[in-house]
Amino acid sequence: MESVQAIKQRFGIIGNDGGLNRAIEKAIQVAPTDISVLVTGESGVGKEAIPKIIHQLSHRKHGKYIAVNCGAIPEGTIDSELFGHEKGAFTGATQTRSGYFEVADGGTIFLDEVGELPLTTQVRLLRVLENGEFIKVGSSKVQKTNVRIVAATNVNMFEAIEKGKFREDLYYRLSTIEIHLPPLRKRKEDIHLLFRKFASDFALKYKMPTIRLSDDAIQMLLNYRWSGNIRQLRNVAEQVSVLERERTVSSQKLRSYLPDIGSNLPAVVESKKSSSDFNNEREILYKVLFDMKSDLNDLKKLTLELMKNGNAKDVQEQNEGLIQKIYGQNNEEPTADNLEILALEEPEESTPEIVDTTTVEAPQEDRYHYAEEIQEEETLSLQEKELELIKKSLERHQGKRKLAAAELGISERTLYRKIKQYDL
Ligand SMILES: Nc1ncnc2c1ncn2[C@@H]1O[C@H](COP(=O)(O)OP(=O)(O)O)[C@@H](O)[C@H]1O
Ligand SMILES: [Mg+2]
Repeated sequence: MESVQAIKQRFGIIGNDGGLNRAIEKAIQVAPTDISVLVTGESGVGKEAIPKIIHQLSHRKHGKYIAVNCGAIPEGTIDSELFGHEKGAFTGATQTRSGYFEVADGGTIFLDEVGELPLTTQVRLLRVLENGEFIKVGSSKVQKTNVRIVAATNVNMFEAIEKGKFREDLYYRLSTIEIHLPPLRKRKEDIHLLFRKFASDFALKYKMPTIRLSDDAIQMLLNYRWSGNIRQLRNVAEQVSVLERERTVSSQKLRSYLPDIGSNLPAVVESKKSSSDFNNEREILYKVLFDMKSDLNDLKKLTLELMKNGNAKDVQEQNEGLIQKIYGQNNEEPTADNLEILALEEPEESTPEIVDTTTVEAPQEDRYHYAEEIQEEETLSLQEKELELIKKSLERHQGKRKLAAAELGISERTLYRKIKQYDL
């Protein structure tokens, strides 16, 4: 059996906290069985590594590993995504489609944010867990599959059960073994270690000398609440690495990167000019990132359509608006020939195949490894900034979504989804 240390190295997990070590040990122990596992812990604590460890150390490692973000798939399509549908099952179902449970036969499915599953989907999931049976949407034929489930949640499942949002029987089925990851504020010894690791990674990435923290800055790091946990710490390390000119960062400087820091700490008085310059610079940076993310999502959607459909002409016709948005209106528009080449370039297969469906746009069967990396880059502050940009734009246009969407360079549908996501 591989040691906890070896697993940490293999999966890029940093830290020596007792709670973290116990979680990894449990994952190693439970991996060879087919037992369902529920990973719990706040957002950003590193839950996504656990199902990967379990899959890789199991006899299913040559099978598929599919990560599904249940919270990101609209309620109307989730059954079809998970279990597939028959041709004609609903408007737009022009072809019979396999769902993840069929595709992942012999492998592992990671159901992230499982607490977000609609109740009707929970019934279907319970059936798969109990006897491996499922039925495609719009079909009456019972199918069999052999899938191992690892689920994760950052919500209190007992509360969800009490409120009638989650089935108790399903909860017990999913959580035969529970693996809990402690929040970062309870892993004090790991905080500075993680910061140093991230700072050194970003120094390498941005070709700059590594950022160091003064003693009082380290103390500030240790006493901070880290409600976004390791994701937030990584984000702070990145921001500091990119934006600070002085390579040794004091607590005064660090403070501006930590939102809602306790008011018992001394306030930072900075000259008005430099702080407003800084804000603008950061704002521009975020806007650029935000636009790039939106373009990337559009491109991913288009590529996926091509992979699924194979017929470039059809795809071009159906996605005219999207193509114009990405490539421009005039002669930059891609020809059907260009698209054909794209469609023919199959993504490189690898064993085991990692499929990550946790994309920001509509649910997608994303077969690219980089999809996961993109997901990881999506940091807490970026989301906060995005929220701020959306709010401001909506205010400016007195709530008129069409105008706000145009200003933000996103589709009205995306804006609508974001409004729902951020509860605006
Ligand atoms: N112990 C760790 N060492 C290194 N990176 C980590 C660790 N835990 C989490 N991360 C990184 O933090 C980010 C958030 O982790 P993730 O698994 O997505 O959190 P969660 O799913 O719990 O919200 C990811 O980029 C992940 O690689
Ligand atoms: Mg996650």
